[in-house]
Amino acid sequence: MMNTYRFNVDLEVNGEPHALEIDARWTLLRVLREVLGLTGTKRGCDLGECGACTVLLDGEPVNSCMTLAAMCDGASVSTVESLGSSEELNSLQQSFLENDGGQCGFCTPGFVMSATALLKVNPNPSDDEIRHALAGNICRCNAYGRILESVRCAAREQ
Ligand code: FES
Ligand code: FES
Repeated sequence: MMNTYRFNVDLEVNGEPHALEIDARWTLLRVLREVLGLTGTKRGCDLGECGACTVLLDGEPVNSCMTLAAMCDGASVSTVESLGSSEELNSLQQSFLENDGGQCGFCTPGFVMSATALLKVNPNPSDDEIRHALAGNICRCNAYGRILESVRCAAREQ
């Protein structure tokens, strides 16, 4: 039987404290989805290439599939669930909805979290700055034009 190494990790997720005992090999993505049930964060490539798993770690966007949860002790994590609910979207989510900023929607939480990080530090980004901030996110449905417009409109309206 394979040995497992357990770690105690304190994580604040979407403002709520969690004291977790986790396997040393688990990623932050796995902890969010499978331990905490926060399935808004998506597993796409699981290789750090698509950005579907983007969350904010102490305010910075990271690929949670490439982040070991054991290294996040004491950190604060924000997932797409922290932004709004299906009854009450936040302004960025609303803009994605109104501008048709997705097709299948699988990439959307990652794009929304990268855009959230951008708008926090740069509320009035140029198109190039938006493209640069979203460069780590891939949309297989090729909705890039509408995603750009969604972020543009959200920035204009905030
Ligand atoms: Fe993490 Fe693709 S699932 S980058
Ligand atoms: Fe389908 Fe982006 S909307 S992958």
